[in-house]
Amino acid sequence: MNNQNGKIITISSVKGGVGKTTLAINLAGLYFLMKKRVLIIDLDLYAGGIATCLNVNSKKDIYLLIDSLSNNKQIELSDYVSNYNKGIDILACPKDPRDVSKIDSKFLSRVFDIAKREYDIVLVDTNHSLDEIALIAIDEAYNSAFVITNDLVDIKNMKSLVSIFNDMEKKNYKIVLNNSRDTGRDYISLFDIRNMIKRNIDFTISRNFYIRNIDKYVINGEILTLNKTIRRFCSSDIKNMEKLALSLIEEVSDNE
Ligand SMILES: Nc1ncnc2c1ncn2[C@@H]1O[C@H](COP(=O)(O)OP(=O)(O)O)[C@@H](O)[C@H]1O
Ligand SMILES: [Mg+2]
Repeated sequence: MNNQNGKIITISSVKGGVGKTTLAINLAGLYFLMKKRVLIIDLDLYAGGIATCLNVNSKKDIYLLIDSLSNNKQIELSDYVSNYNKGIDILACPKDPRDVSKIDSKFLSRVFDIAKREYDIVLVDTNHSLDEIALIAIDEAYNSAFVITNDLVDIKNMKSLVSIFNDMEKKNYKIVLNNSRDTGRDYISLFDIRNMIKRNIDFTISRNFYIRNIDKYVINGEILTLNKTIRRFCSSDIKNMEKLALSLIEEVSDNE
């Protein structure tokens, strides 16, 4: 299973609490159903929640991996990841927040290279602040998803980022409007959002995907997109997320 063609997919945003981690986990579920080997890297280094949301007790984390790499140790990635199921592994954020500042970002590319050899899909969940670590992840990604909500500050910040990406001629990213996170706020129309950010919205997660008892799934470490009842009741959002999952790994998406 020596796959040289694994793809890094980064999940980012310009505001906190918009649904990045939930989307990253849901995408992992969908790629798993497509028979892909998936690694989720938790790069929300201070406040990451991937292991918690999947109810996985991680013994190793990304700090320990980067520390070994920086000490020129021979490493096996499998010694640092935790298993969720047969197809999904996790590289957790540091358990001890004091370790975060010791992470040397220049080793991140190495981590990505190693991960791409062993997994088909490497989903990178980030913090919303576009710090050096997040910028490296976005830069090295095959594709990125930016999650926004129906919120003026969020839309304005995304507008600035779109204009920077236009200047850089960066095209390998999708914008996902998440209406399931805060269902009461939908007063800015899709038409107005497009006009404000001067770009298309690639995918929308509808308010129907609001899961009232989401914490029950979190406590059980369940992935929403793998849950039969949710797949039945939210079938159109699941289909949309499948389309997003496929479009993020489409060939030559950044050259068009
Ligand atoms: N579809 C949804 N339905 C209900 N609650 C949601 C949904 N998506 C996200 N949430 C909740 O919103 C909060 C923020 O989501 P999260 O994915 O952690 O965002 P981020 O990673 O951007 O900070 C969490 O408490 C999460 O459980
Ligand atoms: Mg998060």
